[in-house]
Amino acid sequence: MAGKKSRGGAYAALSLRPAPKGRAVEQRAFDEVVELLGSEPRTRDLLIEHLHKLQDRYGCLTSAHMTALAYEMRLTPAEVFEVATFYHHFDIVKDGDVAPPKLTIRVCESIACHLAGGEAMIDELQARLGAEVRVVAAPCIGRCDAAPAAIVGQNSIGNATTDSLVQAVEAQRVEASVGSSHRLRHVQTTGWIPALSACVSGQRNVD
Ligand code: FES
Repeated sequence: MAGKKSRGGAYAALSLRPAPKGRAVEQRAFDEVVELLGSEPRTRDLLIEHLHKLQDRYGCLTSAHMTALAYEMRLTPAEVFEVATFYHHFDIVKDGDVAPPKLTIRVCESIACHLAGGEAMIDELQARLGAEVRVVAAPCIGRCDAAPAAIVGQNSIGNATTDSLVQAVEAQRVEASVGSSHRLRHVQTTGWIPALSACVSGQRNVD
């Protein structure tokens, strides 16, 4: 099997590298991960970034893709699984599970949004949108100043109502705007989230 090489050829074909412990790396998943990452570095600080790429491309994170990503980044599968399961915006699909619908609405259920009636929208939204769209509760998404807030796909919407969220779905406004993308990047790359992620993945001592 010729396999693909990562940047600099540092990562040899799957069959030429030592087999990882635990779950076997699936060739197809490995090829998809290598193709998706392209020439991007495989450094561990980019783990969340690469998980996002998989989530965006496939709509979820399968065990096969996460195992292949761990292999490609020279991390343990446990490190990748622990980081992936920490973030609510990743949809983990274990073996045998059915992948979620392509579009998910995450309605913030944290205190500011809860008090503003966010949680009460969940059942109504699901009833109006049907099985093609998944509606779930999520922890704070950083839009507390515009509670209640929700994320349609990757598009965060403040002062949300069931009508505004349904309209966003119908108009396919599901991509992150520059503003929300910047906000999300800020939340992911500063403060306690990366610190906690580093602790979870063992890069940093909790002391
Ligand atoms: S509490 Fe809902 S966005 Fe922060």
